[in-house]
Amino acid sequence: MYSRIAGTGSYLPERVLTNADLEKTVDTTDEWIRTRTGIERRHIAGDGETTSMLAEHACRRALRAAGLTVEDVDFIVVGTTTPDRVFPNTGTLLQERLGIHNCPAFALETACSGFVYALSVADKYVRLGEAKCALVVGAECLSRITDWTDRATCVLFGDGAGAVVLTPSVEPGVVATHLHSDGRYKDLLYFPYGVSDGFDKLKAGAKQGITMQGNDVFKVAVRTLSRLVDETLAKNGIEKHQIDWLVPHQANLRIIQSAADKLDMPMDKVIVTVHEHGNTSAASIPLALDTAVRDGRIRRGQLLLMETFGGGFTWGSALVRF
Ligand code: UT7
Repeated sequence: MYSRIAGTGSYLPERVLTNADLEKTVDTTDEWIRTRTGIERRHIAGDGETTSMLAEHACRRALRAAGLTVEDVDFIVVGTTTPDRVFPNTGTLLQERLGIHNCPAFALETACSGFVYALSVADKYVRLGEAKCALVVGAECLSRITDWTDRATCVLFGDGAGAVVLTPSVEPGVVATHLHSDGRYKDLLYFPYGVSDGFDKLKAGAKQGITMQGNDVFKVAVRTLSRLVDETLAKNGIEKHQIDWLVPHQANLRIIQSAADKLDMPMDKVIVTVHEHGNTSAASIPLALDTAVRDGRIRRGQLLLMETFGGGFTWGSALVRF
Protein backbone atom coordinates (compact mmCIF):
# COMPACT_ATOMS: atom_id res chain seq x y z
CA MET A 1 0.00 0.00 0.00
CA TYR A 2 1.20 3.48 -0.88
CA SER A 3 -0.22 6.97 -0.70
CA ARG A 4 -0.72 9.23 -3.70
CA ILE A 5 -1.56 12.88 -4.19
CA ALA A 6 -5.19 12.91 -5.31
CA GLY A 7 -5.49 16.69 -5.52
CA THR A 8 -3.69 19.95 -4.83
CA GLY A 9 -4.84 23.42 -3.77
CA SER A 10 -3.35 26.71 -2.67
CA TYR A 11 -4.29 30.19 -1.57
CA LEU A 12 -2.59 33.58 -1.46
CA PRO A 13 -4.11 36.49 0.45
CA GLU A 14 -5.49 39.34 -1.65
CA ARG A 15 -3.19 42.11 -0.44
CA VAL A 16 -0.01 42.34 -2.51
CA LEU A 17 3.16 44.09 -1.34
CA THR A 18 5.58 44.79 -4.18
CA ASN A 19 9.28 45.54 -4.07
CA ALA A 20 8.37 49.09 -5.12
CA ASP A 21 6.13 49.35 -2.03
CA LEU A 22 9.04 48.28 0.19
CA GLU A 23 11.34 50.85 -1.44
CA LYS A 24 9.12 53.45 0.22
CA THR A 25 9.44 52.03 3.75
CA VAL A 26 12.99 50.61 4.06
CA ASP A 27 16.39 51.36 2.50
CA THR A 28 16.19 48.84 -0.34
CA THR A 29 15.67 48.65 -4.09
CA ASP A 30 13.63 46.48 -6.41
CA GLU A 31 16.87 45.67 -8.21
CA TRP A 32 18.62 44.43 -5.03
CA ILE A 33 15.68 42.26 -4.02
CA ARG A 34 15.24 40.76 -7.49
CA THR A 35 18.92 40.03 -8.15
CA ARG A 36 19.67 38.66 -4.65
CA THR A 37 16.47 36.68 -4.15
CA GLY A 38 14.28 36.53 -7.26
CA ILE A 39 11.35 37.95 -5.28
CA GLU A 40 9.09 40.53 -6.95
CA ARG A 41 6.10 40.66 -4.63
CA ARG A 42 4.60 38.93 -1.60
CA HIS A 43 1.04 38.52 -0.32
CA ILE A 44 0.05 39.73 3.13
CA ALA A 45 -2.83 38.33 5.19
CA GLY A 46 -5.55 40.85 5.97
CA ASP A 47 -6.41 42.07 9.46
CA GLY A 48 -8.04 39.17 11.25
CA GLU A 49 -7.04 36.67 8.56
CA THR A 50 -5.29 33.74 10.25
CA THR A 51 -3.15 30.79 9.19
CA SER A 52 -6.08 28.38 9.56
CA MET A 53 -8.20 30.63 7.30
CA LEU A 54 -5.58 30.56 4.55
CA ALA A 55 -5.30 26.81 5.03
CA GLU A 56 -9.08 26.38 4.73
CA HIS A 57 -9.10 27.95 1.25
CA ALA A 58 -6.20 25.74 0.11
CA CYS A 59 -7.83 22.59 1.50
CA ARG A 60 -11.21 23.22 -0.10
CA ARG A 61 -9.47 23.70 -3.45
CA ALA A 62 -7.40 20.53 -2.99
CA LEU A 63 -10.49 18.50 -2.09
CA ARG A 64 -12.35 19.83 -5.13
CA ALA A 65 -9.39 18.90 -7.35
CA ALA A 66 -9.40 15.40 -5.85
CA GLY A 67 -13.16 15.01 -6.39
CA LEU A 68 -13.60 14.47 -2.65
CA THR A 69 -15.48 16.34 0.08
CA VAL A 70 -14.89 17.30 3.69
CA GLU A 71 -16.92 14.21 4.70
CA ASP A 72 -14.18 12.02 3.25
CA VAL A 73 -11.36 13.56 5.32
CA ASP A 74 -10.09 11.35 8.14
CA PHE A 75 -6.68 12.88 8.93
CA ILE A 76 -5.33 16.45 9.04
CA VAL A 77 -1.76 17.59 9.52
CA VAL A 78 -0.59 21.18 9.12
CA GLY A 79 3.02 22.32 8.93
CA THR A 80 3.25 25.87 10.22
CA THR A 81 5.66 28.23 11.95
CA THR A 82 2.92 30.76 12.58
CA PRO A 83 0.01 28.98 14.28
CA ASP A 84 -3.19 30.94 14.94
CA ARG A 85 -2.76 30.33 18.65
CA VAL A 86 -0.53 28.34 20.99
CA PHE A 87 -3.53 26.05 21.40
CA PRO A 88 -5.88 24.72 20.16
CA ASN A 89 -3.43 23.64 17.47
CA THR A 90 -3.90 24.97 13.93
CA GLY A 91 -4.84 21.53 12.58
CA THR A 92 -7.80 21.39 14.96
CA LEU A 93 -8.79 25.00 14.17
CA LEU A 94 -8.65 24.15 10.46
CA GLN A 95 -10.72 21.02 11.09
CA GLU A 96 -13.38 23.14 12.80
CA ARG A 97 -13.41 25.62 9.90
CA LEU A 98 -13.95 22.77 7.47
CA GLY A 99 -16.81 21.42 9.61
CA ILE A 100 -15.08 18.10 10.20
CA HIS A 101 -15.29 16.39 13.59
CA ASN A 102 -13.46 13.57 15.37
CA CYS A 103 -10.62 12.73 12.98
CA PRO A 104 -7.06 13.35 14.23
CA ALA A 105 -5.94 16.89 13.44
CA PHE A 106 -2.67 18.42 14.50
CA ALA A 107 0.11 20.80 13.55
CA LEU A 108 3.84 20.37 13.50
CA GLU A 109 6.44 23.10 13.57
CA THR A 110 9.57 22.47 11.56
CA ALA A 111 9.76 25.92 9.93
CA CYS A 112 10.18 25.83 6.14
CA SER A 113 10.31 22.02 6.17
CA GLY A 114 6.82 21.81 7.65
CA PHE A 115 5.09 20.58 4.52
CA VAL A 116 7.63 17.85 3.72
CA TYR A 117 7.55 16.69 7.36
CA ALA A 118 3.72 16.69 7.30
CA LEU A 119 3.70 14.76 4.02
CA SER A 120 6.07 12.19 5.50
CA VAL A 121 3.86 11.68 8.56
CA ALA A 122 0.59 11.49 6.61
CA ASP A 123 2.15 9.09 4.09
CA LYS A 124 2.86 6.60 6.93
CA TYR A 125 -0.75 6.74 8.18
CA VAL A 126 -2.14 6.16 4.70
CA ARG A 127 0.32 3.34 4.02
CA LEU A 128 -0.62 1.64 7.27
CA GLY A 129 -4.29 1.83 6.32
CA GLU A 130 -5.06 4.18 9.21
CA ALA A 131 -6.07 7.09 6.97
CA LYS A 132 -7.92 7.04 3.66
CA CYS A 133 -8.15 10.75 2.94
CA ALA A 134 -5.48 12.89 4.54
CA LEU A 135 -5.22 16.66 4.24
CA VAL A 136 -1.55 17.68 4.26
CA VAL A 137 -1.08 21.40 4.59
CA GLY A 138 1.62 24.05 4.74
CA ALA A 139 0.28 27.44 5.84
CA GLU A 140 1.87 30.61 7.17
CA CYS A 141 1.23 34.18 8.26
CA LEU A 142 4.91 35.13 8.43
CA SER A 143 4.05 38.82 8.02
CA ARG A 144 2.93 38.77 11.68
CA ILE A 145 6.41 37.92 12.99
CA THR A 146 8.38 40.01 10.49
CA ASP A 147 10.12 43.20 11.60
CA TRP A 148 9.00 45.59 8.87
CA THR A 149 11.83 47.99 9.69
CA ASP A 150 14.56 45.37 9.10
CA ARG A 151 15.48 45.44 5.41
CA ALA A 152 17.59 42.29 5.73
CA THR A 153 14.51 40.16 6.44
CA CYS A 154 11.30 42.05 5.64
CA VAL A 155 11.86 41.84 1.89
CA LEU A 156 12.00 38.04 2.05
CA PHE A 157 8.82 36.73 3.61
CA GLY A 158 5.15 36.42 2.70
CA ASP A 159 1.90 34.69 3.65
CA GLY A 160 0.06 31.84 1.95
CA ALA A 161 -1.10 28.25 2.13
CA GLY A 162 -0.94 25.07 0.08
CA ALA A 163 -2.45 21.64 0.56
CA VAL A 164 -2.58 18.19 -0.94
CA VAL A 165 -5.04 15.34 -0.43
CA LEU A 166 -3.38 11.97 0.11
CA THR A 167 -5.32 8.79 -0.63
CA PRO A 168 -4.34 5.09 -0.69
CA SER A 169 -2.93 3.60 -3.85
CA VAL A 170 -1.50 0.25 -4.92
CA GLU A 171 1.31 2.07 -6.68
CA PRO A 172 3.41 5.01 -5.48
CA GLY A 173 2.52 7.91 -5.09
CA VAL A 174 4.86 9.06 -2.46
CA VAL A 175 7.92 6.96 -3.24
CA ALA A 176 10.02 8.07 -0.27
CA THR A 177 10.64 10.95 2.11
CA HIS A 178 13.95 11.76 3.79
CA LEU A 179 13.92 14.03 6.85
CA HIS A 180 16.76 15.66 8.79
CA SER A 181 17.27 18.16 11.57
CA ASP A 182 20.21 19.69 13.45
CA GLY A 183 19.57 22.08 16.34
CA ARG A 184 23.18 23.24 16.51
CA TYR A 185 22.15 25.84 13.94
CA LYS A 186 19.33 27.25 16.09
CA ASP A 187 20.92 30.70 16.32
CA LEU A 188 21.28 31.32 12.58
CA LEU A 189 17.55 31.59 11.88
CA TYR A 190 14.89 32.01 14.56
CA PHE A 191 12.05 33.99 16.07
CA PRO A 192 13.04 34.96 19.59
CA TYR A 193 9.76 34.70 21.47
CA GLY A 194 7.84 31.58 22.38
CA VAL A 195 5.94 30.51 25.46
CA SER A 196 8.40 28.96 27.90
CA ASP A 197 11.14 31.16 26.44
CA GLY A 198 10.59 34.83 25.68
CA PHE A 199 6.89 35.27 26.48
CA ASP A 200 7.71 37.73 29.27
CA LYS A 201 9.67 39.87 26.80
CA LEU A 202 6.79 39.80 24.33
CA LYS A 203 4.36 40.91 27.06
CA ALA A 204 6.75 43.73 27.93
CA GLY A 205 6.55 44.97 24.32
CA ALA A 206 9.64 43.43 22.69
CA LYS A 207 9.57 43.93 18.92
CA GLN A 208 12.30 41.77 17.36
CA GLY A 209 11.13 39.87 14.29
CA ILE A 210 12.41 36.83 12.41
CA THR A 211 16.17 36.98 12.88
CA MET A 212 18.57 35.50 10.34
CA GLN A 213 22.28 35.41 9.56
CA GLY A 214 21.29 35.38 5.89
CA ASN A 215 24.64 34.74 4.31
CA ASP A 216 25.53 31.87 6.70
CA VAL A 217 22.09 30.31 6.18
CA PHE A 218 22.56 30.64 2.43
CA LYS A 219 25.88 28.74 2.45
CA VAL A 220 24.67 25.92 4.70
CA ALA A 221 21.45 25.64 2.67
CA VAL A 222 23.31 25.20 -0.63
CA ARG A 223 25.70 22.62 0.87
CA THR A 224 22.97 20.71 2.68
CA LEU A 225 20.57 20.60 -0.26
CA SER A 226 23.34 19.28 -2.46
CA ARG A 227 23.90 16.38 -0.02
CA LEU A 228 20.15 15.84 0.25
CA VAL A 229 19.79 15.50 -3.52
CA ASP A 230 22.61 12.90 -3.56
CA GLU A 231 21.01 11.00 -0.69
CA THR A 232 17.55 10.97 -2.29
CA LEU A 233 18.85 9.74 -5.64
CA ALA A 234 21.11 7.07 -4.08
CA LYS A 235 18.60 5.66 -1.57
CA ASN A 236 15.95 5.28 -4.29
CA GLY A 237 18.19 4.05 -7.09
CA ILE A 238 17.17 7.02 -9.27
CA GLU A 239 19.26 8.73 -11.93
CA LYS A 240 19.12 12.50 -12.27
CA HIS A 241 17.55 12.36 -15.73
CA GLN A 242 14.58 10.35 -14.42
CA ILE A 243 13.25 13.31 -12.45
CA ASP A 244 10.69 15.26 -14.43
CA TRP A 245 10.28 18.25 -12.10
CA LEU A 246 12.15 19.79 -9.22
CA VAL A 247 9.64 21.39 -6.82
CA PRO A 248 11.90 23.18 -4.35
CA HIS A 249 11.30 25.30 -1.28
CA GLN A 250 10.91 28.87 -2.53
CA ALA A 251 13.28 30.97 -0.42
CA ASN A 252 15.80 32.34 -2.87
CA LEU A 253 16.14 31.86 -6.63
CA ARG A 254 19.91 31.46 -6.29
CA ILE A 255 19.50 28.55 -3.85
CA ILE A 256 16.96 26.98 -6.21
CA GLN A 257 19.38 27.37 -9.12
CA SER A 258 22.18 25.65 -7.21
CA ALA A 259 19.94 22.63 -6.53
CA ALA A 260 18.99 22.54 -10.22
CA ASP A 261 22.70 22.64 -11.17
CA LYS A 262 23.36 19.73 -8.84
CA LEU A 263 20.72 17.75 -10.76
CA ASP A 264 22.00 18.96 -14.17
CA MET A 265 18.48 20.22 -14.63
CA PRO A 266 17.61 23.15 -16.90
CA MET A 267 15.55 25.81 -15.12
CA ASP A 268 12.54 25.01 -17.31
CA LYS A 269 12.26 21.73 -15.35
CA VAL A 270 12.17 23.59 -12.05
CA ILE A 271 8.98 25.02 -10.59
CA VAL A 272 9.69 28.58 -9.48
CA THR A 273 7.05 30.73 -7.79
CA VAL A 274 9.28 32.69 -5.39
CA HIS A 275 8.85 35.85 -7.51
CA GLU A 276 5.11 35.77 -6.84
CA HIS A 277 5.03 35.19 -3.06
CA GLY A 278 8.51 35.35 -1.53
CA ASN A 279 9.45 32.87 1.16
CA THR A 280 6.22 31.46 2.60
CA SER A 281 8.05 28.85 4.67
CA ALA A 282 5.98 25.65 5.01
CA ALA A 283 3.50 26.87 2.39
CA SER A 284 6.02 27.31 -0.38
CA ILE A 285 6.30 23.78 -1.80
CA PRO A 286 2.55 23.08 -1.96
CA LEU A 287 2.03 26.56 -3.45
CA ALA A 288 4.58 25.82 -6.18
CA LEU A 289 3.18 22.32 -6.73
CA ASP A 290 -0.39 23.53 -7.08
CA THR A 291 0.63 26.31 -9.47
CA ALA A 292 2.36 23.86 -11.83
CA VAL A 293 -0.41 21.25 -11.60
CA ARG A 294 -3.07 23.83 -12.45
CA ASP A 295 -1.13 25.39 -15.33
CA GLY A 296 -0.62 21.93 -16.82
CA ARG A 297 3.15 21.59 -16.48
CA ILE A 298 3.04 18.79 -13.91
CA ARG A 299 1.09 15.84 -15.24
CA ARG A 300 0.00 12.46 -13.88
CA GLY A 301 2.73 9.83 -13.89
CA GLN A 302 5.63 12.28 -13.71
CA LEU A 303 8.36 12.00 -11.09
CA LEU A 304 8.76 15.00 -8.76
CA LEU A 305 11.56 15.82 -6.37
CA MET A 306 10.61 18.18 -3.55
CA GLU A 307 13.36 19.54 -1.34
CA THR A 308 13.33 21.97 1.54
CA PHE A 309 15.54 23.67 4.09
CA GLY A 310 14.70 25.93 7.00
CA GLY A 311 15.09 27.13 10.58
CA GLY A 312 16.40 24.64 13.07
CA PHE A 313 17.96 23.72 10.81
CA THR A 314 15.46 21.23 9.40
CA TRP A 315 15.60 19.86 5.89
CA GLY A 316 14.09 17.08 3.84
CA SER A 317 13.04 15.71 0.49
CA ALA A 318 10.09 13.88 -0.99
CA LEU A 319 10.21 11.80 -4.13
CA VAL A 320 6.70 11.65 -5.55
CA ARG A 321 5.21 9.95 -8.60
CA PHE A 322 2.36 12.37 -9.31
O1 UT7 B 1 13.72 29.54 4.15
C1 UT7 B 1 14.70 29.29 5.11
C2 UT7 B 1 16.03 29.42 4.56
N1 UT7 B 1 16.35 30.80 4.31
C3 UT7 B 1 17.09 31.06 3.28
O2 UT7 B 1 17.37 30.17 2.54
C4 UT7 B 1 17.64 32.45 3.11
C5 UT7 B 1 19.12 32.35 2.89
N2 UT7 B 1 19.78 33.58 2.66
C6 UT7 B 1 19.56 34.39 1.57
O3 UT7 B 1 18.68 34.14 0.81
C7 UT7 B 1 20.50 35.53 1.34
O4 UT7 B 1 21.61 35.43 2.23
C8 UT7 B 1 19.85 36.93 1.51
C9 UT7 B 1 18.91 37.19 0.35
C10 UT7 B 1 19.09 37.00 2.82
C11 UT7 B 1 20.91 38.01 1.49
O5 UT7 B 1 21.70 37.93 0.30
P1 UT7 B 1 23.29 37.94 0.38
O6 UT7 B 1 23.79 37.91 -0.99
O7 UT7 B 1 23.70 36.82 1.30
O8 UT7 B 1 23.59 39.35 1.00
P2 UT7 B 1 24.30 39.73 2.38
O9 UT7 B 1 23.46 39.36 3.55
O10 UT7 B 1 25.71 39.24 2.36
O11 UT7 B 1 24.32 41.31 2.25
C12 UT7 B 1 25.00 41.97 1.19
C13 UT7 B 1 24.77 43.47 1.33
C14 UT7 B 1 25.03 44.00 2.72
O12 UT7 B 1 25.66 45.26 2.60
P3 UT7 B 1 27.26 45.41 2.75
O13 UT7 B 1 27.57 44.91 4.13
O14 UT7 B 1 27.85 44.55 1.67
O15 UT7 B 1 27.47 46.88 2.55
C15 UT7 B 1 23.68 44.17 3.31
O16 UT7 B 1 23.63 45.17 4.31
O17 UT7 B 1 23.41 43.80 1.04
C16 UT7 B 1 22.89 44.60 2.12
N3 UT7 B 1 21.47 44.34 2.21
C17 UT7 B 1 20.55 44.99 1.49
N4 UT7 B 1 20.66 45.98 0.58
C18 UT7 B 1 19.52 46.43 0.01
C19 UT7 B 1 20.83 43.43 3.00
N5 UT7 B 1 19.51 43.50 2.80
C20 UT7 B 1 19.31 44.46 1.86
C21 UT7 B 1 18.16 44.98 1.25
N6 UT7 B 1 18.31 45.94 0.32
N7 UT7 B 1 16.92 44.51 1.50
